[in-house]
Amino acid sequence: MDCRAVIDWLGRNRRLQPSLTLHPIGFITTHKQVKFQALHQPAEAQPEQNVLELLPEPGYQQALQDLAGFSRVWLLWWFHRNESWRPLVLPPRGPAQRRGLFATRSPHRPNPLGLTPVQLLGIEGRRLLLGPCDLVDGTPIFDIKPYIAAYDAFPEADNGWMEEVESALRGPPKFAVRFAALAVTQAEWLFENWKIDFRPRLIELLAIDPSPHRTRRIRRRGAALFTIGCGGWRAVFSVAEEVVTVLVLEPGYPLRFLNNPDYEALPDREAQLACWGRWPE
Ligand SMILES: C[S@@+](CC[C@H](N)C(=O)[O-])C[C@H]1O[C@@H](n2cnc3c(N)ncnc32)[C@H](O)[C@@H]1O
Repeated sequence: MDCRAVIDWLGRNRRLQPSLTLHPIGFITTHKQVKFQALHQPAEAQPEQNVLELLPEPGYQQALQDLAGFSRVWLLWWFHRNESWRPLVLPPRGPAQRRGLFATRSPHRPNPLGLTPVQLLGIEGRRLLLGPCDLVDGTPIFDIKPYIAAYDAFPEADNGWMEEVESALRGPPKFAVRFAALAVTQAEWLFENWKIDFRPRLIELLAIDPSPHRTRRIRRRGAALFTIGCGGWRAVFSVAEEVVTVLVLEPGYPLRFLNNPDYEALPDREAQLACWGRWPE
C-alpha cells in the first residue's frame, strides 16, 4: 500500500489509527495556578522565575550536560488542563473572527502540545531555572531543546492574518478609557492594601476594542453595560461613542467559591474576600 492509500484507509478506520505513548520528563513549577493567570505567550519584560524539575530517571541529569551555555531553550509540553479541541478558534488578538486552529497557537488542539521558548537562567542538578513562561503550575514537560537563532529565527517570515491584526494594533488607540469615582476608589484601595493593580491591563485591552469577545473575556451585562475579566478580577464598564468608562471593579469569584476550602487555587483569595466585605453590593 502506498502512503496515500494508508492515509485514506486510516481516515476511514479511526479506531485503528496508531497511538503514541509519551512520558513526561519532568514538571514545571510556576506561580500560575489557573489558566487565565498565564499570558498567551511569555511576557519577556516581566521578571519571573520558574523551575522545571526533571524526574529522577537514569540519564536525565546527564542529558543536561552542555545545555548551560544556551540562553534560551524550547519547552515542548502538554496542555494537560484541556480536554477538547475545535477546528475554528477565536484568537485573543484582533477582531472577533474565528480562525483555523492550525493557523493559531490556541491551546485546544487534537494533540494538545505546547511550544514555548524560555530563558534558561541556570541549571542546578536536575532543576532548570527558567524565565517568563506561559505554562500553568504542574504542566508536564515532554522535551527540552536548545533555542538556536540560526535555525529557529526567521524575522523576515510572513505572519499571515497576524500581520493585519498587528498593524491595526500599531495605530493609535481607538477608545479613551476613563475611571468613574467608585472605580478609582476601588483601584486605589486594591493597590494600597493588596499591591494589586490591573488598571494598566484594563486600559490596554479596552482602548483597543471593548466589544464583546469570548477569549478577551468581554461580555454584555444587561442592556447598557459590559464586563471584562482581568486576571482574577472583573471590571464593569459602559461605552459611549469612543469613550469607555470603567464603573466598578469586582472580585472575579463569588463568595461561595472563596469560602469553600475545596477550591484551593483561587488567585488573590484574601483580597477578593476583603473586597466583598468592603463593597458587598
Ligand atoms: C496561547 S497558549 C500558547 C502556548 C505556547 N506558547 C504555544 O504557542 O504552543 C498559552 C495559554 O495556554 C494556557 N495554558 C497554560 N498551561 C496550560 C496547561 N497546562 N493546560 C491547559 N492550558 C494551559 C494558558 O491559558 C496560556 O495563556
